[in-house]
Amino acid sequence: MRVLVSGGAGYIGSHTVVHLVAAGHDVVIVDSFANSKPAVIGRLEALTGRHLPVHAFDLTDRDKTERLFGDESFDAVVHFAGLKAVGESARIPLDYYENNLDATFSLVRAMRRHGVKLLVFSSSATVYGEQAPLPYREDYAPLQSSSPYGRTKVMIEQVLTDVAAADPSMRFALLRYFNPVGTHPSGTIGEDPQDIPNNLMPFLAQVAVGRRDKLIVFGDDYPTDDGTCERDYIHVEDLAAGHVAALGRLTTTNSPVSVWNLGTGRGTSVLELVHAFERAVGRELPYEIGPRRPGDLPRSWADPGRAHAELGWSTTKSVDDMCADTWRWQSANPMGYEG
Ligand code: UD1
Repeated sequence: MRVLVSGGAGYIGSHTVVHLVAAGHDVVIVDSFANSKPAVIGRLEALTGRHLPVHAFDLTDRDKTERLFGDESFDAVVHFAGLKAVGESARIPLDYYENNLDATFSLVRAMRRHGVKLLVFSSSATVYGEQAPLPYREDYAPLQSSSPYGRTKVMIEQVLTDVAAADPSMRFALLRYFNPVGTHPSGTIGEDPQDIPNNLMPFLAQVAVGRRDKLIVFGDDYPTDDGTCERDYIHVEDLAAGHVAALGRLTTTNSPVSVWNLGTGRGTSVLELVHAFERAVGRELPYEIGPRRPGDLPRSWADPGRAHAELGWSTTKSVDDMCADTWRWQSANPMGYEG
């Protein structure tokens, strides 16, 4: 299929581009480069052995989006583009609502005008909110989230569900990611946060490479085995494979909307992840226990059973793989793509 990948220069998008090409798809990237670096494209071309057409604009620009769909033909869209920092979303909520929703409106309008039926959307485990029982299952309702960022995901899921109800010929996959970490095993593409990393794994990687003094562990008084929060870390390579599987499933399913959790089903604590990363690096890493971060839940993990059954997909990589691959990328690219 000819697949438009929005946000294809970003962390998860770039890894998924490699998997889509390997599965035989023709990929076209649209990315504003607001939160990604043009240098990733050359790395992707080296990894895939293909020329990858890139359109550098923001999907909130409806005229440009419409022109792209007029000029090129697509069979499917994989939609990653969006703002994604939880803390920032509380400071500039209007930007988050406007950007994430407008980009989706513009994209889905263009799809409908040009007869493109298949869309894979990047949702998040954050849509389960604070009340959902563990493990998180796709049929849980009502969805809610504690941040404006998370609420854009809840809203977009709702918008897409309404669009599909009005036009049941559409096929939408809502993929709820747990905590994506790791990189392509080549170490040539990876996560490259613009500022101080908000998330645990990129922060830890920057401590290991000497860009940060120490990790602050956000609280060790949670009701978990070692007192630190537990998360379902999923290797980005497994996550990328999940997108290819979901896209394939959209071509055969009769359901206008499908929701799949992409996680391992296992929780790992902050300290367990720190120690796994220390094993990958081969030395101890400086950390200190700090106060809790507002909004953090003690534990989060998926029930991945539906994705196993319906996509024939499951994760293959361990936490040690996630750390080893991240370290390969970070040590070879200490300053990210511009290092
Ligand atoms: C966060 C977002 C989630 C988003 C996801 C994207 C929040 C509340 N949630 O998930 O909506 O979809 O990122 O990947 O921000 N930690 C530390 N020290 C650090 C950084 C993190 O101890 O410097 C801890 C956190 O308290 C948490 C765990 O590490 O327990 C994982 O944190 P993080 O990587 O930010 O992911 P989430 O908070 O689970």
